[in-house]
Amino acid sequence: MITRPDTPLPWLNYLGQDDLFGLCTNTGGGYTFWRDARLRRLTRYRYNDAPYDPVGRYLYVRDGTSVWNPGWRPTKVALDRYECRHGLGYTRLTAAKDGVEVQLLFFVPPGEDVELWRATVRNETDRVKELTLFSYLELCFYEALNDMTNFQRTYSIGEVEVEGGGIYHTTEYRERRDHYTLFGCTREIAGFDTSRDEFVGVHNGLHDAAVPFTGAARGSVAHGWNPIASHQLELRLGPEEEETFAFVLAYVHGAEPKFERSGAANKEPGRALLARYGRDGAVDEAFEALRAYWDGLLSALHVDCPDRHGTRMLSTWNQYQCVATLNLSRSASLYETGIGRGIGFRDSNQDILGVVHLAPERTRARILDLAATQLSDGRCFHQYQPLTKLGNSAIGSDFNDDPLWLVLSTCAYVKETGDSSILDERVGYSDRPGSAEPLLHHLETSVGFTVGHRGDRGLPLIGHADWNDCLNLNCFSTDPDESFQTAGDVEGSRAESVMIAGLFLYACRELAGLYRHLGRPDDAERLDRARAGMLAAVEEQAWDGEWYVRAFDARGAAVGSRSCEEGSIFVESQAWCILGGAGRENGRAVRALESVHEHLFTEHGVVLHQPAFTRYDPALGEITSYPPGYKENAGVFCHAATWIILAWCLLGEGDRALEYYLTTCPSAQEERIETYRSEPYVFAQMIAGPDAATPGEARNSWLTGTAAWSFLALAEGILGIRPDYEGLRIDPCIPCGWAGYSVTRRFRGATYEIAVSNPEGVCGGVRSLRVDGRELDAKVVPAARSGEQVRVEVVLGRGG
Ligand code: BGC
Ligand code: NOJ
Repeated sequence: MITRPDTPLPWLNYLGQDDLFGLCTNTGGGYTFWRDARLRRLTRYRYNDAPYDPVGRYLYVRDGTSVWNPGWRPTKVALDRYECRHGLGYTRLTAAKDGVEVQLLFFVPPGEDVELWRATVRNETDRVKELTLFSYLELCFYEALNDMTNFQRTYSIGEVEVEGGGIYHTTEYRERRDHYTLFGCTREIAGFDTSRDEFVGVHNGLHDAAVPFTGAARGSVAHGWNPIASHQLELRLGPEEEETFAFVLAYVHGAEPKFERSGAANKEPGRALLARYGRDGAVDEAFEALRAYWDGLLSALHVDCPDRHGTRMLSTWNQYQCVATLNLSRSASLYETGIGRGIGFRDSNQDILGVVHLAPERTRARILDLAATQLSDGRCFHQYQPLTKLGNSAIGSDFNDDPLWLVLSTCAYVKETGDSSILDERVGYSDRPGSAEPLLHHLETSVGFTVGHRGDRGLPLIGHADWNDCLNLNCFSTDPDESFQTAGDVEGSRAESVMIAGLFLYACRELAGLYRHLGRPDDAERLDRARAGMLAAVEEQAWDGEWYVRAFDARGAAVGSRSCEEGSIFVESQAWCILGGAGRENGRAVRALESVHEHLFTEHGVVLHQPAFTRYDPALGEITSYPPGYKENAGVFCHAATWIILAWCLLGEGDRALEYYLTTCPSAQEERIETYRSEPYVFAQMIAGPDAATPGEARNSWLTGTAAWSFLALAEGILGIRPDYEGLRIDPCIPCGWAGYSVTRRFRGATYEIAVSNPEGVCGGVRSLRVDGRELDAKVVPAARSGEQVRVEVVLGRGG
């Protein structure tokens, strides 16, 4: 719950779960789109404006001559009460002024292409109140980039139709579009406007918009310029009386026939929606359906552990954020404009790791969509457009970590669901139209790509970049007008990545495990051999004495080595070499983590490298372009920091693991929110590091791989509940001081009530495991039948 509207930054929530999505801030700002924030944007937004977050879902309340907004913006008139509740799939603003309380509830009912705004207006006084309300949103011409740039055309194409309380945005409907936007009201209206110039005024802003301040709608019909949708409502409320009604924002497509009467859009589907939500109780029923949807989803996992932040994040908000990253990848947030980036290959494959337990069908479909953007030589389109599902050629491929993430997501899917039929699903390669190969073929192609693209040291070639998009070892850019991400000659280059080598170790072990599960030991051994070869290369080439080097640049010089003046130790290579199983027998894993603790751990989390780069270096690329302490230049990159938590867990260091977890955990930042600034309920991509001018300040919240990996760090690493082919593996690594914890986990349709106790005050080691009262020898709780309830009692202790 947010209790003041002037938060340190706009704090965001998402509406929608299927196709229609809305961004909604704590003052009602944001926009709505259908499936694709670039190609099907329904309402407008202006990024990076002053003030931030300048457009949204607004209601103006005119009470006598005073005009105010229940979300505070845009008039910013002081409210007597204000509260914003960002909930699961909904945002509710409640505000009061001069004895009038208004509540606005925004949500998208499951399975619908409709965003509802339920409004409840209450007269808290003992006198009659006569109020005039004006709704407001600004319409977008669907293709958001064109909408923001091509005014010589867009100022002349806008069209609307108005019928009763329904405002129909029909721009381009007469020609190539088969969809329109409806903004309607379920209550009788007293007027409307559809022209921004009329409603707002050419020389006004939304804070002093002409119509609400003069008090009367003008009935304007937009012909070009900027169409908006606004209703005027007259309310007369007796003492203590209240009234509830709703606004309906809908995406309507495929109406048959397309037109009714002489070129007018077929508005029948729109009328039906207004009639439907005008029925008593219909909006409340839809809201109930939304609650049931989220309760059902999040019932997949519930924890109760001694750390209140961990409990709160894992049971609710972290899972919720993971669903947002599955839905939107990195496309639309307050930092991603919905235009440049669609669904990222490495991003979405990692996102899947955090949601497969609660949305297995959707992750299955996503894995197949991602695989379809792989090329037959193993490379992958780095991003694809959600509406068309086609690879984005502006960014192309050659991020050489990309292919391997597909192995991780697929194995996670099979472990969670037991459904190995996905491996036989036929998916084409995007450069071979009409081709169709089993998904398993794609996984082999991925591994084969890394094997076939190694440099002089036998380590993987990096391409444009590996996971760290800003480590551009083949770019050598001196031209400010080109992108670090696409410039440079990757074909002829020799730069190698130790991070990809570690990821390869991990992926090979995963794929070998999958083959063993499938009863194909020969294939498993083949992968073991490939892994052994890479492991030897890592141990022979990449150990720097106290940590693993990060990479070798195009001239063969080490990056992330003691020999480097700046950037002499990096986090990613320690994390992935250790997670991939390097350094176990020779003690290097422990040594490398101690180096991380010594050089990279800070009160705000683990920074990406040290020392920060102070000069631009074309041989290293974008990483040296950020001011020290920010983003990839020695910021706390929360995503990478989570891998270290998992690495501590591998080494059995539960106290360290939780200590690290809490540094980046949003809920733990509430006490220092003025410094942190971002939402204290979702993980951020980056927290400024100690080299920055503003250490501890978070940026790029919501759409980040941090969500999935923080989930894994706590659920699988610390609490130690891991899906495996045969069942649920239980292997905790907790702080020694924890007396115990409990987890309710859905797994393949059965529900496991897991109680872990720690009588001896250890970090890990399962002393005994009982399933429904029966003692088991193994650490794996066998998969039960769907629908069953399973009671699991775990006692930790020495000798476990
Ligand atoms: C950012 C990276 C991001 C990349 C995407 C860079 O400017 O710093 O975090 O992955 O852009 O293209
Ligand atoms: C954010 C990008 O979405 C992700 O793909 C990348 O791995 C990280 N930044 C690190 O550069």
